[in-house]
Amino acid sequence: MRLLVLGGTHFLGRHVAMAALERGHEVATFTRGLTGEPPPGAQALHGDRDDPAALPAALDGWQPELVVDTSCQTRAAADNAAAVLGGVHGYAFVSSLNAYRNWPPGPIGPENSEPTWDTADDDYGPNKAHAERVLAAAVGPAFLTARAGLIVGPHDPVYRLGWWLDRISRGGRVVVPAEGMDQPISLVDARDLATWLVEMAERGQGGAVNAKGPVGMTTYGGLLDVCREVTASDAEWVPVPEEDLLAAGVQEWVHLPLWLRQEEARTAWDVDTARAAELELTTRPLAATVADTWAWMQEAERPPLPANRPAPGLPPELEAQLLAGHGDQET
Ligand SMILES: NC(=O)c1ccc[n+]([C@@H]2O[C@H](COP(=O)([O-])OP(=O)(O)OC[C@H]3O[C@@H](n4cnc5c(N)ncnc54)[C@H](OP(=O)(O)O)[C@@H]3O)[C@@H](O)[C@H]2O)c1
Repeated sequence: MRLLVLGGTHFLGRHVAMAALERGHEVATFTRGLTGEPPPGAQALHGDRDDPAALPAALDGWQPELVVDTSCQTRAAADNAAAVLGGVHGYAFVSSLNAYRNWPPGPIGPENSEPTWDTADDDYGPNKAHAERVLAAAVGPAFLTARAGLIVGPHDPVYRLGWWLDRISRGGRVVVPAEGMDQPISLVDARDLATWLVEMAERGQGGAVNAKGPVGMTTYGGLLDVCREVTASDAEWVPVPEEDLLAAGVQEWVHLPLWLRQEEARTAWDVDTARAAELELTTRPLAATVADTWAWMQEAERPPLPANRPAPGLPPELEAQLLAGHGDQET
């Protein structure tokens, strides 16, 4: 079938384009052309999706039957897609758990079809919620919204998992959050999510799905242990209490990527994934995701961090300060 990827040149969108090609679709991607080209075999269409004239001009009569939308970040982007693509057989949209007003910290129960943000703020969660509403109204029952949690894997230009792999591979004493090591975390491999999105669009499957790895799949410490194994590192964990991390100015999620304070972590990963399981969204073993991400980081030229993203990782002077103050080591 004719499948349009809105996005398609990096990370999730790139995996969607590859999955769609593997499944025999005629694939076109629509991007501004700023972040490179799609995988070989996909036709690259160019334009800014915030511009109402750009998508119809780029399509130039080519009518997609399926859409996978990975790149919607603004209300205009959603409105413009809704104006052009309402008649497709299946439309799989990548939203976020942030479409829920109470996430983070959650917890999130079974999906309601409506997102819970309903304000006009120009912000990530409210924008995703707006997009879900206008696209659902335009496409109807064949509109699926995947409210994604944490997506990881090769081609991730944000390097949250990537920073940990780099840091752990250098070995030695590594600051870890003392109380954070047992906190649950769940991730979905971008390649598994991508293939599933294509399948959902093929089926014309509709509705809302909390698209994340299952509760209990691992812990923060479990993830770091896998990173240590994959990089064959001699890293020694130096657990630093949360109050010391916060007092030193360590920013959760950014300085220690993927780490959340206890009060938030307690419920943030407690998200009902029964519908995702029913629709067979699977994620491969964590060790495979981490190993493939590390292999990609060795082999490929690393893409630049997207604009407006803070560089992940503990600044070296902050790390030195924390290590100096915490002599005990634990392996
Ligand atoms: N990473 C996570 O853990 C996480 C968690 C929850 C949800 N999500 C969601 O998952 C998706 C991640 O997808 P992703 O990483 O593949 O894509 P993304 O970062 O949202 O989008 C990047 C792609 O869209 C294109 N693009 C950006 N702005 C554009 C515009 N104005 N007009 C046309 N094309 C544009 C880019 O190419 P050009 O720059 O060349 O235009 C690139 O191909 C996002 O929707 C994100 O909100 C991510």
